[in-house]
Amino acid sequence: MSTEHGSTSHGTRRDRGMFRTKTVEQSIRDTEEPEHELKKSLSALDLTVFGVGVVIGTGIFVLTGKIAKQQAGPSVAVAFVVAGAVCALAALCYAEFASTVPVAGSAYTFAYASLGELPAWIIGWDLILELALGCAVVAVGWSGYLRSLLDTAGLHLPEELAGTHDGRFGFDLPACLLVVAVTAVLVLGMKLSSRVTAVIVGIKVTVVLLVIVAGSLFITAANYRPFIPPALPTAHGGGLTAPLSQLMFGFTPSHFGVMGIFAAAAVVFFAFIGFDIVATAAEETRNPQRDVPRGILGSLAICTLLYVAVSIVVTGMVKYTELTTDAPLADAFKAVGHPFYAGVISFGAAVGLTSVCMILLLGQSRVFFAMSRDGLLPQFFSRVHPRFGTPYRSTVALGLVVAVVAGFTSINELAELVNIGTLFAFVVVAVGVVLLRRSRPDLPRAFRTPLVPLIPVASVLASLWLMLNLPAETWLRFAVWMVLGFGIYFVYGRAHSRLGSRLRGTGRIR
Ligand code: ALA
Repeated sequence: MSTEHGSTSHGTRRDRGMFRTKTVEQSIRDTEEPEHELKKSLSALDLTVFGVGVVIGTGIFVLTGKIAKQQAGPSVAVAFVVAGAVCALAALCYAEFASTVPVAGSAYTFAYASLGELPAWIIGWDLILELALGCAVVAVGWSGYLRSLLDTAGLHLPEELAGTHDGRFGFDLPACLLVVAVTAVLVLGMKLSSRVTAVIVGIKVTVVLLVIVAGSLFITAANYRPFIPPALPTAHGGGLTAPLSQLMFGFTPSHFGVMGIFAAAAVVFFAFIGFDIVATAAEETRNPQRDVPRGILGSLAICTLLYVAVSIVVTGMVKYTELTTDAPLADAFKAVGHPFYAGVISFGAAVGLTSVCMILLLGQSRVFFAMSRDGLLPQFFSRVHPRFGTPYRSTVALGLVVAVVAGFTSINELAELVNIGTLFAFVVVAVGVVLLRRSRPDLPRAFRTPLVPLIPVASVLASLWLMLNLPAETWLRFAVWMVLGFGIYFVYGRAHSRLGSRLRGTGRIR
């Protein structure tokens, strides 16, 4: 492996403060230190299973019905295509980065190699928002399905242990326990995790296919009219709950109509979150240059097809105005007189959401691990377990925090916060691809994003457009989170950065 030490353009670099970059070679060398080395055991198939395992979840099982009913009607299928296209552009950028920088940490690592330490920290901080909060959202969604199954079986949890509902405060015990269980599985090791995931993914995909095949027998063409319901003004004028784009460009805030499709796309985008996590497992992949791009693009393609098919079928089975918002897929079968299918679907959803929760937490612990290994978070968290070869300290620490958040939070708007964080990461990755091509054209790239800079620029614009379609209040919350992140970097990370000490000690990256 070439080292930047020997190369004139990259070998001697001065400390550029918060824009100092960690070279790709340095990132790879760090992964080879014995006390920080993760086991390399995953294949392209494992990664695709991971991808599908995390991607299909609350988005398709819950948001499809909710968004069709409230924002898009049958054209929710188009919203899925729009969101899928935005993700495909981002996936092409992620795939190049992941195959060039195959180390744990995803967009965080990519940003460190191309944009500098502060942007990398910001993106890592942003990924915490995406993954940890996303995991809590999914755990709470899972708890809802579990309770609905228990109710069917005649077992009822006391109100106080069933989460916060309709203004009534309660601790969500099932959600909290799910996160604790998932944390334990992750600490025990990647191989076990991927086996558990494979079984769960099998059940989940079977249930989704059941919805498509069985549901298509009950489609009534009249339910598709109108395919794009006419725009309706939003009650109360929208205010901070209106999409930022409508406020910025002076439209009367509305839902449905063509603008409604974009607002819907910005929300159903949640259904695609996760394919980027495949990139976070690059360091644990046997042949990352080949397998990571395959895993990312493969899982994205499979999910987009399934989502479009499910939304077309469900809005054909039941008039969009009649869809329910908690368990729309199962309820659509009840509506056409098939409660048995409804039970199977609820069961599949409850099982399926466990893997989403697990992989979100897996990705999160790896990003946290990478940030701690770099000294931007306390290095205590980057010790790998001597027997299981997993970053157990970061996994346990985050698992506990997420378990508490999942137990105490009733989450709806937070899904939108997760989306804005993820879209922001897409923007940084796309910019990073272009910068890294310029600064390190020499690096081997097993996968090259086509049509650079066209695709990255399109990816930035598409992600920004979806972000603008999120409510103004989501932007405010996002800004608060980011300001907090800046504060932590300047108080802790900047002074403790390993890269910073290396540069201060020798004047060179070694
Ligand atoms: N894409 C994942 C879901 O829909 C996060 O639950």
